[in-house]
Amino acid sequence: MNPCAGGDEAKKKIRDGSFKNFQAAVSAGKKLWEDETLGKSGNSCLSCHSDFSLLNFEKRQNFPHYVEMVGDVVSLDQMINYCMLNPMEGEQLAPNSKEMTAMGAYYRAYRMQFLKAEK
Ligand code: HEC
Repeated sequence: MNPCAGGDEAKKKIRDGSFKNFQAAVSAGKKLWEDETLGKSGNSCLSCHSDFSLLNFEKRQNFPHYVEMVGDVVSLDQMINYCMLNPMEGEQLAPNSKEMTAMGAYYRAYRMQFLKAEK
């Protein structure tokens, strides 16, 4: 038996709850990206990032990569938390939370939309 697949012992969870599929995570993420009450600044993520603005999708980079504003090499989750803390004036999202997964899922869906429109 492949030890990487996990045995019969109870699996340890990273969190309570799960998404049934990718689209469910995207839908939850869209609500978060549009939410002007996530932080204290009165902005939503899409206040600054509508029409694919400031996301550098055209560079076709994967994370981690260097982001000028941060002055550091960051993963997508770290970038999301940087924007939560700074432009949003909010709190960081917990790394294993459904919110963080939803944020990342919407990012991916939004990027796919951009790439489709570009070609
Ligand atoms: C007040 C404006 C503002 C708000 C609000 C904002 N951002 Fe940003 N975001 C920026 C700027 C500016 C950059 C940096 C662009 C650069 O350096 O090229 C950025 C960069 C990013 C990047 C990385 C782009 C890259 O180069 O790969 C991601 C991902 C991102 N933001 C997600 C979010 C998310 C998620 C939220 C909401 C939680 C959010 N942002 C809210 C202004 C904002």
